[in-house]
Amino acid sequence: MGREFIELFDEWSTSYDNSVTGNEIEYREVFKDYEHILERVAELSYGHVLEFGAGTGNLTKKLFALGCKVTAIEPSHAMRMIANDKLNGKVKIVDGDFLHFPKPEYVDSIVSTYAFHHLTNEEKAKAIDAFQRLLKPGGKLVFADTIFTTSEYCGQIEPSVRRFEPLFAVN
Ligand SMILES: C[S@@+](CC[C@H](N)C(=O)[O-])C[C@H]1O[C@@H](n2cnc3c(N)ncnc32)[C@H](O)[C@@H]1O
Repeated sequence: MGREFIELFDEWSTSYDNSVTGNEIEYREVFKDYEHILERVAELSYGHVLEFGAGTGNLTKKLFALGCKVTAIEPSHAMRMIANDKLNGKVKIVDGDFLHFPKPEYVDSIVSTYAFHHLTNEEKAKAIDAFQRLLKPGGKLVFADTIFTTSEYCGQIEPSVRRFEPLFAVN
């Protein structure tokens, strides 16, 4: 259920923060404006924030610095360890994924960066359904992710790895 990439993320965890800086050519385009995008997502969030796919905790750290109460969900053990170190244990980073996670009673914001594309469209719809029930009235869903530039390009990709069709886009 959307967790098939976890081993890859365990392996990537120690070099992930280098990848997002633009130092590695293969990731330069994917992570263009990474810091700015995370800052925008953090600025648009408020209150009790539920974060999915926290990775090494870069967005988590920005949310915490802005005074949010954060509950971060991350399925990769190795990523969680790095995020825990970065946050000095100030934020709870728990095992889970977009569909299976300890449910808080309510949240003000649900956020995620560079992770939602791991779900199929069916899983995305299920997740959004659950998020609607968790968000307080007036609550915010703030997602940033990579997408294909055109549907034609998406169509050229081998279907078994084509998980990137955007279900919706949030600016
Ligand atoms: C590219 S990293 C992004 C990390 C972080 N959000 C950031 O912006 O740097 C994707 C993260 O999503 C996590 N992930 C993969 N599948 C997931 C799923 N089904 N539910 C939640 N997170 C998932 C991975 O373990 C990884 O930490």
